[in-house]
Parts: sequence; C-alpha cells; structure tokens
Amino acid sequence: MSVRVAIIGAGLWGNNHAVALQDHPGCDVVLVCDRDARRAEAVAGRLGCRWTTEVAEVADSDVDAVTVATPDHLHAAPVIAMLEAGKHVLVEKPLATTVAEARAMVETAARAGRSLMVDFHARWHPLYMGAKAYVERGDLGAPVMAYARLSDTIHVPTSMLSWGGQSGPEWFLFPHTMDLIRWLFQREPVEVYAKGTRGVLEGRGIPCWDTIQALVEFEGGAICTFETSWILPDSFTNVVDNRISVYGEKGGLEVKNEPSLWAFTDRYHTPFSSTSVTRYGKAWGYQYEPIRYFVDCIARGVTPESTGHDGLVNTAMIAATLQSLAEKRPVRLAEILG
Ligand SMILES: NC(=O)c1ccc[n+]([C@@H]2O[C@H](COP(=O)([O-])OP(=O)(O)OC[C@H]3O[C@@H](n4cnc5c(N)ncnc54)[C@H](O)[C@@H]3O)[C@@H](O)[C@H]2O)c1
Repeated sequence: MSVRVAIIGAGLWGNNHAVALQDHPGCDVVLVCDRDARRAEAVAGRLGCRWTTEVAEVADSDVDAVTVATPDHLHAAPVIAMLEAGKHVLVEKPLATTVAEARAMVETAARAGRSLMVDFHARWHPLYMGAKAYVERGDLGAPVMAYARLSDTIHVPTSMLSWGGQSGPEWFLFPHTMDLIRWLFQREPVEVYAKGTRGVLEGRGIPCWDTIQALVEFEGGAICTFETSWILPDSFTNVVDNRISVYGEKGGLEVKNEPSLWAFTDRYHTPFSSTSVTRYGKAWGYQYEPIRYFVDCIARGVTPESTGHDGLVNTAMIAATLQSLAEKRPVRLAEILG
C-alpha cells in the first residue's frame, strides 16, 4: 500500500519532511500546506504535487496521513483538525506548549482511533540507539544519575526562527533531551526544580529565557540535570552543543554528539549535522528516519512509538520546569498531570 501524505508547515523543518518522504517508496506526498503561499508552492514544486494555504483543504482531502511542522506554539489546531478528519498524524516536537493542548491532542487521537506520533528524532540517532542497547542489556544497572545538555548559538532565536519569543529554549530544545533521558531511564518523571536566567534575548526584543538548568527526579530516585541555553556565542564550533552522560548502579556511558567532520573555511567549525545528509538521490540520517518510520507504521497498520502520550509527559515536564521557575520551588509532575 502506498500511503497518501500531506505536509502542513513548509518552513525549515517541513522542508526536511519533504526531503525525507520524497524518495520513500511507501508513500506519495500529494499536498503541501503553508499559510505562506510562496513556501507551500516552493516545496510542492520540488515534490511535483498540489499545494494550498488552507488547513481545511488538507482535512477535506483523501490523504491517509499528515506531517505537521508549524511553529512550536501552533501545533494543536492543525493536529486536532487532521485527527478529527480521520488522518494519522506525525507532529514535530514539542507536542504542544501547554498541557491542556497536549491532552486535547492525545484525547482526540484516542477518540478518532488514529495514530499520533511526535518526532523525537534523538531516538533514531545511531549514538543514542547504541546507548539504549547498553541500558536494555542491563549493562548499566538501575539508573541513578544523568546530565543532558542541548544548547543553541544565539543565531537560532535571533536569525533562524521568526517566532523564538513565542517558544524558548525550554520548548525548542528540552523536548529532545527530556524525552531521551526518560526513554533511556525507562522511568517516569516525578519532580522538577529549575533555575534560569533572562536578559540577553529580552534585550534583543525576544521575550524568553536565555538559559535554564532543571533538576528532574524520576521514579526510584534517579536524577538528571537538564541544561539548555539559547545564547551560546556564534563563535561556537557548531550551531548546537549537545552531550549526555548516564550512570546506573553498575555502569555508565557518555555520548558527546560531536560531528567528526571539521571544516576550516571562514572559521574552524563543524556542520550542523555531518550524519544527516543528502547524496546519491537519497536523504540519509536520523533527521529523516523517524518521518519514514511513521509512514511505514501507517502502511503496516502498526502504532508508531514516540507516541502522543510520550509527547504529553514531555510537555508536562517542561510545564513543570516553567512553574518551578515562576514559583521558585520544586514542582511535582502530579500537580501538572493530576
Ligand atoms: N527535530 C528538530 O530537530 C527540529 C529542528 C527545527 C525545527 N523543528 C520543529 O519544527 C517545527 C517548525 O519549525 P521551523 O524551524 O520549520 O519553523 P519555520 O518558521 O521555518 O516554519 C514554520 C512554517 O509553518 C507555517 N505555518 C504556521 N502556522 C500555520 C498553519 N496554521 N497552517 C499552515 N502553515 C502554517 C509558517 O508559515 C512557516 O512556513 C517547530 O515545531 C520546531 O520545533 C524541529
């Protein structure tokens, strides 16, 4: 069966959805939707398919599945509209920027009997899949402690994104690391205590946190410090700084997600990703695999992993972080999720 797919949101990452699916033998991308007609037309032109500026037109179309890559705070409306129209949905991280929206999306998927997958693509990164194998084999023992850093240079909120002030490093970056550690620990989060700093981005007219450290306790007492910054200097070697360490009762592991391709051109630097590339008429790497996996699951009638529920817990962890920052106290996940 060839899955008929539409893409909603044809910006930077929606374009990656198109690249991932363009050469996938199991699907036909037949429709691209973006509020901005020029963006919709440009991506549709590359795929040789129809385009629209109206989400309702996607709902009324005969597509089986929809991938959504609108800005962080604009996921809920198109996702709920697609699920209600009977489409399976893959949505970019974070599932939502409020717990109420995340819950509404999960409930709509359940009511409609359709799959809702969140693109937590770290689960498809070879290094993290390798780390997961150590955990699953029991080589580390029960989890006790972890550290996870994912930060961006200031280029991302000031130049790359037009909507940084409506998101923040917590909504843009914590989804990856918070999902990754929950996935590796195989434990649910219990409590969050966070500290952060503001001022640099606010001074540039972008009202969001500059940096945050959130200490999260998981079931069984394991702890992880999640660190994020949106103000790394542009002189950093990569647009992203990412590393994790995980310790169990018996062993530990570290992943320094540093590309091994170093270039010395205008400066000494590494590309955004040297493992997700397009060559030989095909797109390779973890940025593209979960998008294809979603289509494969729909074709086989299988529920994809990285579910709406995972997205809801993830959103609740970030909401708890923000509540902790606001109220300067530890916040229990039960206060957020009930
Ligand atoms: N997995 C990753 O590592 C990764 C990296 C970058 C971005 N993302 C995620 O992808 C999503 C999109 O980010 P981006 O950088 O592509 O943003 P972007 O601003 O480049 O693109 C978003 C597009 O959505 C369109 N849009 C907004 N509301 C719409 C609506 N209701 N209907 C149709 N189109 C609409 C905008 O016109 C824009 O073209 C975000 O959730 C972001 O967090 C994920």
